[in-house]
Amino acid sequence: KKVVLAYSGGLDTSVIVKWLQETYNCEVVTFTADIGQGEEVEPARAKAKALGVKEIYIEDLREEFVRDYVYPMFRANTIYEGEYLLGTSIARPLIAKRLIEIANQTGADAISHGATGKGNDQVRFELGAYALKPGVKVIAPWREWDLNSREKLMAYCQQHDIPVDFAGQKKKSPYSMDANLLHISYEGGILEDPWAEAEEDMWRWSVSPEAAPDEPTYVELTFDQGDIVAIDGVPMKPHEVLEKLNKMGGDNGIGRLDIVENRYVGMKSRGCYETPGGTIMLKAHRAIESLTLDREEAHLKDELMPKYAEVIYNGYWWSPERRMLQAAIDETQRNVSGVVRLKLYKGNVIVAGRQSDQSLFDESIATFEDDAGAYDQKDAEGFIKLNALRLRIAAGKGRKQD
Ligand code: ARG
Ligand code: SIN
Repeated sequence: KKVVLAYSGGLDTSVIVKWLQETYNCEVVTFTADIGQGEEVEPARAKAKALGVKEIYIEDLREEFVRDYVYPMFRANTIYEGEYLLGTSIARPLIAKRLIEIANQTGADAISHGATGKGNDQVRFELGAYALKPGVKVIAPWREWDLNSREKLMAYCQQHDIPVDFAGQKKKSPYSMDANLLHISYEGGILEDPWAEAEEDMWRWSVSPEAAPDEPTYVELTFDQGDIVAIDGVPMKPHEVLEKLNKMGGDNGIGRLDIVENRYVGMKSRGCYETPGGTIMLKAHRAIESLTLDREEAHLKDELMPKYAEVIYNGYWWSPERRMLQAAIDETQRNVSGVVRLKLYKGNVIVAGRQSDQSLFDESIATFEDDAGAYDQKDAEGFIKLNALRLRIAAGKGRKQD
């Protein structure tokens, strides 16, 4: 009877509104969120109204997105397949949560989204929805209808009096894009050939490293328990931090990425990403951890990270395994506080210094100069000999090395 739709205000989801009303003869509730995609969300109100929608939700979720999703993820230095900073993956659980909350508020029994049947996003939205409302009905128009080309979508608009222009088709990009405060992504179009280099004018958030300034930019980031809380000494909220670092990173050509990744549904997909602020945050976080984490704690955390990344990529944010990993990761961050000084220069993030009241670095022990007795070099002899014991036994018994 009633369905809550994740509505962008664009052509595709505008068609979905009409299609849901017609196909399911149901009331559509639209939900549009500002998560820092850099487009106005207010225009979605008039568009939804024109499509006959009565309950329209438009929300600014930027702060919640960075504070409760992006920041917790960065505590683990999370990257998927060694490269991808999960910009799209981490936004989906929040959208799923709000869809379900709005469904509960408005008495809707179904949710709907504009993700295709070939991608990861459908999985993320729907796993989240089922985890939060087990009996919910999911309608994924792209898996049901036959409007699978731009021409068919346009024809549908004409038949149903959906103004194509208001659906924002003036300067349609040749790429499938997704943007939020953490990143902007590009897929499809010429990128479907993994050998074809992305055109320079595809990139929207960053200058090319070649075009970046010849003078480096220095910045100091203050961490409190794993999270950045100030830039150059000025306290900021999480989303303000990311906004500022996106700007600084973009200006210095930082955060461009071009990869072929493995989607959860089984196919390989080529994508380009710009994650300027996230690239800076990751480098800085590792630097502050290098001073403040115990070695075994740090290494174990690094072993868990690929698993944690996969859990998020595959859409299991709302799962017991994600909560379990999060608890372990958060526990490691108690002492991850201090300041990191970075140099941003032509696409590079270079650590210039780090300091912390919680530092485990002990200059009197580490020094190559004469030491004060905290470390007795003679102890190293037995340490090495005992560790070599099994190697010596094997060698003594004639075991070959290769
Ligand atoms: N491949 C990336 C991921 O799975 C980006 C997906 C982009 N989504 C989109 N609707 N354009 O996280
Ligand atoms: C989509 O299929 O809707 C976008 C790509 C993805 O979800 O992986």
